[in-house]
Amino acid sequence: MPRIALIPGDGIGTEVTREAAKVLRCADERHSLALDLVAWPHGADHFLATGITLTDDEFGELRDDYDAILLGALGDPRVPGNRHAREILLGLRFKLDLFTNFRPIRLLAERLTPLKGKREEDIDFVIFRENTEGVYVGMGGNFKQGTPDEVAVQEDVNTRKGVERIIRAAFEYAHHHDRPRVTLSDKANAMEFAGALWRRVFAEVANEYPDIENEALYVDMLAMDLVRRPERYEVIVTGNLFGDILSDLGSQLAGGLGLAASANLNPSTTPLFEPVHGSAPDLAGQGLANPAAAILSAALMLREVGATDAAAEVEEAVQACVVAHETTPDLGGELTTAGAGEAVCERIRRLHG
Ligand code: NAD
Ligand code: IPM
Ligand code: MN
Repeated sequence: MPRIALIPGDGIGTEVTREAAKVLRCADERHSLALDLVAWPHGADHFLATGITLTDDEFGELRDDYDAILLGALGDPRVPGNRHAREILLGLRFKLDLFTNFRPIRLLAERLTPLKGKREEDIDFVIFRENTEGVYVGMGGNFKQGTPDEVAVQEDVNTRKGVERIIRAAFEYAHHHDRPRVTLSDKANAMEFAGALWRRVFAEVANEYPDIENEALYVDMLAMDLVRRPERYEVIVTGNLFGDILSDLGSQLAGGLGLAASANLNPSTTPLFEPVHGSAPDLAGQGLANPAAAILSAALMLREVGATDAAAEVEEAVQACVVAHETTPDLGGELTTAGAGEAVCERIRRLHG
């Protein structure tokens, strides 16, 4: 009986997670998964009311007593510096050591891409974003703050272990999913020390996979080329910050953040699933948020807990809704967030009789 922690979080996070939970219950009805969905209150309201982001005991509970976490989004203008988001979201990624941030990009219907002349099969790649290092480690500081001589240092940390394990994860994925090429993306021309480590380890690991092509591209060039000829790309492996940026860019090639799902993984601990998007304060409370990214993240979660058929069914149902224009306004449809979630459930009930 898979035990799932739902952390809806803030803004549209609560709205899309409600729909993802609805779809999980529909999938459960058909597949008897006996999912145990446990709601967690953590987010801005909880933090503002209690001063708690996520305690060590709560963290331990998520690590030891759960099979997966499904998170909506964290981010609220009322919390200075979004401290709660850093401590909960980045805290879970770091403390659980979820080193792989897996972000698939797939065009579900031709009309959704802003690129001229690209078809469904042209936009289908995955990003392996390093998730525990880089500039996200929060090392650095300020000096002479508030004076004309102010200095801010934000360190970019790259370890041999961290670099190797994400590169290996990308090649393993390519190997098991018949992807012919892995592309490393970095900025080795300007960031020579980190770049040298990434490129050396990439070449070493690539040697172990002679059947998979490999290439290293500067991230500025890759950002351009993803727009020019996305069909070239299969598996992209990159650092934490570049992965963050490329995944929002990639999402728009396939219809936008409303459809972009992600998984934060380490094979030895509780995985965390979440849409790529944030709490979208501009949409919150209006029923305008697309729940598909959260629903597709829930599908990634189902696959991870072994419910492969249910996962495929949820993905099929989302695609059918998108194709049939049963969507929220960001994709040109007229449904509300709740209506779009219901439409996916309806498709699941109708699938295969
Ligand atoms: P955002 O992803 O929240 O929104 C960017 C744009 O995409 C907005 O125009 C928004 O309306 C649109 N959008 C996002 N999700 C959508 C959906 N499901 N359906 C339709 N349109 C959608 O990014 P932002 O505005 O830069 O950030 C808002 C807050 O969220 C910030 O506090 C940020 O730090 C936080 N954030 C959190 C996460 C996370 O929890 N994983 C991710 C990104 C941003
Ligand atoms: C994401 C988000 C986060 C990140 C923010 C909220 C810290 O943008 O998950 O893509 O940069 O990783
Ligand atoms: Mn992001």
